Amino acid sequence: MDLLVLAEGAARRAAGYLRNVARPDPASWTAKGPRDFATDIDRHAEAMITESLLEAEPGSTVLGEELSPDAAAAALVWIVDPLDGTTNFLHGYPVSAVSIAALADGELEAGVVLRLEPDCCFRARRGGGAWVGERRLRVSTIRDPRHALIGTGFPFKHPELLPAYQQQFARVMLSTSGIRRAGSAALDLADVAAGRFDGFWEQSLAPWDVAAGILLVREAGGVVTDLQGRDWAVGHGSVVAGNPAIHAWLLEGLTIDE
Ligand code: IPD
Ligand code: CA
Ligand code: CA
Repeated sequence: MDLLVLAEGAARRAAGYLRNVARPDPASWTAKGPRDFATDIDRHAEAMITESLLEAEPGSTVLGEELSPDAAAAALVWIVDPLDGTTNFLHGYPVSAVSIAALADGELEAGVVLRLEPDCCFRARRGGGAWVGERRLRVSTIRDPRHALIGTGFPFKHPELLPAYQQQFARVMLSTSGIRRAGSAALDLADVAAGRFDGFWEQSLAPWDVAAGILLVREAGGVVTDLQGRDWAVGHGSVVAGNPAIHAWLLEGLTIDE
């Protein structure tokens, strides 16, 4: 079956639930670590997505943030973040999304980042471009860092990364027209693909945060690597993305030993 159609269908089903569920009381939040919460809502959304995908593709595997973060490799792996931007969601701050990617024989083949509010579905298929509705996405053409708007994420789960991050932050802030921290890496990457951010970096991200967004950026003509300039591979680590010029500039200015 068509992997993109399946991913979008599963994302839409979960989004329907997420848009209508009541915001949970802090007493019901589960702490996965300091400053890192999840709820039954994240888990239920992931269960819905898993059910849809495995019913359609019984031989596939789901690598999902909440229920199967250590799933074994398979020919077809769905990389699922049922709710990217959980902190935003828990506070009613309207920047969160469902993110689903299909990894077939080690290649990102399809990706969907479905923003909850406003409803906006970013889609990409390997070799088929990145799209919102009928509009094809292209990364920006800004080359001069002084004109660039850069997205980022804070290393709030890894305080040991903070000193290096503060140096990176200062370099970028002083050389560009601005930095934004929206709170959803999947949507940050979608914004790079859409040409709204000229670049993005974050030091430590999980595969479910970025898999679909990476395909969006690639298919929109952008470049994504880690801070060492290596191609993305399924795993946890840094991500640097941008249009080709701003990606190269970020990489040169941000490289630190990981
Ligand atoms: C988080 C968001 C955030 C990023 C964090 C992620 P979650 O995902 O993508 O922007 O800074 O590192 O963990 O927990 O909301 O799914
Ligand atoms: Ca996430
Ligand atoms: Ca999540």
